[in-house]
Amino acid sequence: MNLSLKNQVALVTGASSGLGYACAEALAREEAAVVINYHSQAEPAEELAEKIRAGGGRAIAVKGDVSKEADVDNLFAQTLAEFGRLDILVANSGLQKDAPSIEMTLEEWNTVLDVNLTGQFLCARAALRQFRDQGHSPEISRAAGKIIHMSSVHQLIPWAGHVNYAASKGGVDLLMKTLAQEVGEARIRVNSVAPGAIATAINEETTQGEAGKALLKLIPYGRIGAAEDVANAVVWLASDLSDYVHGTTLFIDGGMSLYPGFRDNG
Ligand code: BGC
Repeated sequence: MNLSLKNQVALVTGASSGLGYACAEALAREEAAVVINYHSQAEPAEELAEKIRAGGGRAIAVKGDVSKEADVDNLFAQTLAEFGRLDILVANSGLQKDAPSIEMTLEEWNTVLDVNLTGQFLCARAALRQFRDQGHSPEISRAAGKIIHMSSVHQLIPWAGHVNYAASKGGVDLLMKTLAQEVGEARIRVNSVAPGAIATAINEETTQGEAGKALLKLIPYGRIGAAEDVANAVVWLASDLSDYVHGTTLFIDGGMSLYPGFRDNG
């Protein structure tokens, strides 16, 4: 057994930048056909698809807002029209709209919950339906389908000033676990990855310069993560090498969730 995802089809939501982009690239490297979903940035998504095709792989870019049921339906329909099946969903799309709770608008709350939590539910539900309809082909993968949710250390660590985001990721944790409990018997594997501080566009301000140095105090392993750190774990979770891993969250955080404030305190 190896990491290879040959003959498998992967859909990555929110893949025009950051973690989603890196995941799509890494899945393609292991020979999966990749559907690169994007919300508004068509250019980098199309460029990535082109780059994968130029390297001999299979890829398309598809626009769609994961918080809209009709868009999710269309995303899955296009995936099937192009590649005929689905094996891997990386439910990655996510955003932050930060504000102190006392000032947070309902719109800021709803937008984050809609994309980060409802979006993951809608995509997971569509993937489950597809996995059920296409049936299990053990020669393609030991599992009948794999869902990987993009969570965060903030499914565990409370985060002042980001109540919408932390609540959405806390929700992703029980969304993942409940789905895993429900569909395991059908040989569908459901897991999450929970990244810590990874240098991407969503957190440029806090991972660079002086802010970046201060952030290192929260990371026992002593470096800010790179998108590839997360993408590598996602590839492993999508592959048969992790076939007995189900209903688990893999923290990819350099130890951020180890309460580093207690190293010289408490
Ligand atoms: C957030 C980042 C943040 C990190 C650690 C992630 O989920 O998206 O902005 O740097 O958690 O706090």
